Amino acid sequence: MTHTLTLRRPDDWHLHLRDGQMLAAVLPETTRHFDRAIIMPNLVPPAVRSSDAAAYRDRIMAALPEGSGFKPLMTLYLTEDTNPADVAQAHANGLIHAVKLYPAGATTNSASGVQNFDNVRGVLEKMAEISLPLCVHGEVTDPAVDIFDREAVFIDRILDPVRRATPGLRVIMEHITTSDGVEYVKANDKDLGATITTHHLVINRNHILVGGIKPHYYCLPVAKREEHRLALRAAATSGDARFFLGTDSAPHTDPNKESACGCAGCFTATNTMSILAHVFEEENALDRLEAFCSLNGPAYYGLPANTGTMTLKKGDPVAYPEKIITGEGPVTVFDPGFPLHWHVET
Ligand code: NCD
Ligand code: ZN
Repeated sequence: MTHTLTLRRPDDWHLHLRDGQMLAAVLPETTRHFDRAIIMPNLVPPAVRSSDAAAYRDRIMAALPEGSGFKPLMTLYLTEDTNPADVAQAHANGLIHAVKLYPAGATTNSASGVQNFDNVRGVLEKMAEISLPLCVHGEVTDPAVDIFDREAVFIDRILDPVRRATPGLRVIMEHITTSDGVEYVKANDKDLGATITTHHLVINRNHILVGGIKPHYYCLPVAKREEHRLALRAAATSGDARFFLGTDSAPHTDPNKESACGCAGCFTATNTMSILAHVFEEENALDRLEAFCSLNGPAYYGLPANTGTMTLKKGDPVAYPEKIITGEGPVTVFDPGFPLHWHVET
């Protein structure tokens, strides 16, 4: 039995850090284990222009724990008014690594997202030309579509037509939650990858709804049936270079989660590596954890893998805080529902 595992230092290819006091409190939870992260731009107001992303990057750098070499990889929030030249310049000077597409109204702070995809054609064509990836929140917002079907319908109605209309556009399907997402990625050899979260490898929709409603398991895209969780596990642990880690760690304070209209998001930054080692061990795939966390993501983004290493050791149950205390209120850490035994060595 394996008890020690050493891998290249991991990255998180989908992360919410927020701003201000929340940023200050949650940032160390990520920088402890991850060298880089793709930073989501859904602030209030969103980071739309390159000047917004530059200012946000400066605030993140100012909040870094002392001595941290963490590198935030910035993104721009795509709107129907986004200027292709501004995007191209932000990419050329190394500020941004992706543009994020939120269908308007799909999730937290997505009101300024895209409604009419014809209006972003120019930006997408520019991105294809300069090889800048588009990170996609893949859910339709049509109220007539059941929330559990919104990812599958998005692939057919929007993603596939947009990709066909924009040859060469490099797309990352963010936080896929269905076997439909897995199959769509696998059917495409070029210019398509997908991130998978920690929590979608652990929970299915029963965890949210059986035995009382569990707000800390509610996120978007919402967890689906067990068969979908199993498809995500198979994809993540397969070693297939098109699948990589994006935790979608998304802090909301407890009052905002435990509410009559609770916010979507699971906060997994603190214990992600221990959970992933547990999941990969259950799938007899510990030897592929490095590909998922540390190699496939940088390869897709055209960046080198990190040079440092991380060692995980199996032992007594891992102690981690139930909540992170922030200046805005407590944030509950994701509870996988089982004890964790893989410790990240410091
Ligand atoms: C994210 C957030 O809180 O910003 N929430 C979530 O449930 N994942 C937004 C998102 O990525 O959809
Ligand atoms: Zn997210």
